[in-house]
Amino acid sequence: MPRTHVDKVARDLYVLRLDDDETKYFEAIWYIPKGVTYNSYVLVTDEGAVLFDSWKHTYSELFINTLHNVVDPKDIKYVVIHHMEPDHSGSIPKLLERCGCNPTVLGHPLVGNMLRSFYGVEARFTPVKDMEEVSVGGRNLKFIYIPWLHWPDTIATYIKDSGILLTCDAFGGFGIPPAIYDDDDAVVEWYLPLVRKYLATVVGHYREHIVKNVDKLAKLNLEVRTIAPAHGLIWRRNPKIIVDIYYRLARAEPSGRKVVIVYDSMYGFVEQAVKVLAEELSRRGYEVRLFPFTDRDHAHVSDIIGEVLDSYAVILGLSTYEGKIFPQMEYVVRLLIDKVNAEKPVLLVTTYGWGKVSEEYLRSLLKGSQFKVVDVVHIHGAPRGEDIERLRQAAGKFP
Ligand SMILES: Cc1cc2nc3c(=O)[nH]c(=O)nc-3n(C[C@H](O)[C@H](O)[C@H](O)COP(=O)(O)O)c2cc1C
Ligand SMILES: [Fe+2]
Ligand SMILES: [Fe+2]
Repeated sequence: MPRTHVDKVARDLYVLRLDDDETKYFEAIWYIPKGVTYNSYVLVTDEGAVLFDSWKHTYSELFINTLHNVVDPKDIKYVVIHHMEPDHSGSIPKLLERCGCNPTVLGHPLVGNMLRSFYGVEARFTPVKDMEEVSVGGRNLKFIYIPWLHWPDTIATYIKDSGILLTCDAFGGFGIPPAIYDDDDAVVEWYLPLVRKYLATVVGHYREHIVKNVDKLAKLNLEVRTIAPAHGLIWRRNPKIIVDIYYRLARAEPSGRKVVIVYDSMYGFVEQAVKVLAEELSRRGYEVRLFPFTDRDHAHVSDIIGEVLDSYAVILGLSTYEGKIFPQMEYVVRLLIDKVNAEKPVLLVTTYGWGKVSEEYLRSLLKGSQFKVVDVVHIHGAPRGEDIERLRQAAGKFP
């Protein structure tokens, strides 16, 4: 059952958090067994309230009920839409219909049309410009465009007097943290792998825009004491942690000597080859992570993408399948190129029964990406003798 939380983040600013443990596949693709949260914020002033974002449409009713804990919806003067993806804008239509209020909706110029096309909503919409400021009840709000984090429409709000930056998808993560804030090291440690998974899968395709936007925010020299995203933890003890992690992950920097091995194996031949490589790489001091597609186990592509993002190198173990490669492996490779696409060494290992998968086919899959194929090992059936030697030698191709 989804839980709700209401808490005071700072002077007159409240978070409304929904813990979504029902969505299994975020955006219908990313497997999230640890759930996700939607964080909406309300700033209460004596000139009316400002609502920032909402929850997924499934929770519209619950959203409106929860909102009553903080403000009478009639008193909402502005609704700020930081980003139109329905995980945040989904409850706004019902709110506008039910609140008995007529708020001005503020957002990127793209938002007005999307409100109409997504929900048939004719709102009183006023587009905001990059760096535009609005005052409400003596509080100053500065809107900052952060395009492609995660859509072209995405903006952040800086609440000047309390040093709070509301960032929507940026600096968010998957998971339902057992706390609202970053106060506890153990919670932060638990959460960070889910930040990596979120960044890689949801925003990974636009990772150079993360770098650009973090640079843009840094140049503004804002005094940011709290980062309040629309997913996951709110950073008030040490916001620098999440900014640094986003920046490092966006550049796909290796976090150590981690080699990610993704492989399929229908009857175990590729698996034998991969085990040789894993053993040899461990012996050489690498940290090996295995992601299998076998008759016992299927890895989740969402986990693979996250792990590859900060890996040192990647190994793809592939069986030949109807003249090509195993279908799930092709899917993984295409998503790795789409979401990670980083300058990392890649080793390809294939096995075949009667005609090896063409090297040209494999190379053409990776062509145009930043991944660098360092070696290709083809094995006829199960690896033995010379193949094992060849595999050990290939493991040495990583510097
Ligand atoms: C469904 C299926 C399709 C296959 N298609 C081909 C193929 O097109 N060409 C080929 O040389 N071998 C093919 N093979 C044989 C396997 O690629 C080969 O036995 C390989 O070593 C299997 O490794 P694995 O058991 O780790 O998956 C196929 C095997 C299966 C089960
Ligand atoms: Fe989004
Ligand atoms: Fe989101």
